[in-house]
Amino acid sequence: MRIPPAMTTRRIDVAHDQDGAILEAARLLEGAGLVAFPTETVYGLGALGLEPRALERLFAAKKRPFEDPLILHVADPGWLDQLTLEVPAAVRRLTEGLWPGPLTVILSKSTAVPDIATAGLPSVAVRMPSHPLALALISAVGSPLAAPSANLFGRPSPTSAEHVLADLRDRIDAVLDAGPTSVGVESTVIDAREEDSPIILRPGGTCREKIESVLGQKVRIRESDWEETVEPTVSPGLLSRHYSPRAPVRLFRSSSDEGPVPSMSRAVRAAASSTEGPVGILAYEEDEPLLSDLPRTVRVEVVGSRSSPHIVAKNLFAALRNLDDSGVKVIFASLMGPDGLGETINDRLARAAGGKLEK
Ligand code: TXA
Ligand code: MG
Repeated sequence: MRIPPAMTTRRIDVAHDQDGAILEAARLLEGAGLVAFPTETVYGLGALGLEPRALERLFAAKKRPFEDPLILHVADPGWLDQLTLEVPAAVRRLTEGLWPGPLTVILSKSTAVPDIATAGLPSVAVRMPSHPLALALISAVGSPLAAPSANLFGRPSPTSAEHVLADLRDRIDAVLDAGPTSVGVESTVIDAREEDSPIILRPGGTCREKIESVLGQKVRIRESDWEETVEPTVSPGLLSRHYSPRAPVRLFRSSSDEGPVPSMSRAVRAAASSTEGPVGILAYEEDEPLLSDLPRTVRVEVVGSRSSPHIVAKNLFAALRNLDDSGVKVIFASLMGPDGLGETINDRLARAAGGKLEK
């Protein structure tokens, strides 16, 4: 893998002159540059999606293996015609019902899409984001942008420009700073090419219930075989031990009939109290009564209520990074209920924990 030349990353603030900021970012991208920008899910690292030279730099900057395919971001569903051989009916229903938004669809790729974008797969992942700045930037460039999450490979996805700079400072040309993102977890990746058996490859910011109501049928979710590493060629983003902070994460699930919340927060409390040195707890509001009077070496990050998964999703990655930055040597966390975005949050927590669940 080629080492990218040294560069200084520009932070482009969009607050004062949004049009000027977009123009500057578009020029950098058109010169095969790398510019991080906000989407409604997480910050993406943008590069010309149909330009192999730009994509090579993108993989190098993120230290991402070439086997992990990229998502192409479009400003209009009409752009699908250029990128794909055909758009099956079920996929069309999804893009009509849920775009723009946190949903990525898999389609058969056309020859316009270079192999490096898809890791040699015959399929391509495409998404139309809803963030106005992302749409304006893609429109200004006038061509699809590849945009993986703007983190170093394996680190939690960035939900602010600060997170992007913490990982990629001086490895990319610029970051467009428009404040924290609203959804907080990456898009849902779905393969709905087989009309009868649509399958979610990565749970994400569009919950399964919404997808099922648009398709009018049940949707499978790819077996989250958290204990094992899945076939890398199916959806390499599903590798276990992904989205990980540096500190190991120990994840608890409910074990008794006293109700999931007390049993889990007790288990977390006991484990945290019996561990020497600085430790972190990723907690829900409901856990707080059980987490009082902890030793001073325990740092607690509250991500929101178990009954508001969209708030938890928005805070999740920042909380993991905060705990990490505070120098804790292990992070304790527990699962949420599986409704709505709970399914996505549990998926990310399980991956951060390398697939291991404790009682
Ligand atoms: O919300 C998001 O999707 C963010 C923002 C920036 O748009 N992007 C993002 O990209 O999360 P990335 O590269 O971090 O994740 C892309 C995911 C990976 O899990 C990858 O394996 C999967 O999409 N993917 C890409 N192309 C695929 C394909 N042809 N078949 C199956 N999975 C694919
Ligand atoms: Mg990623």
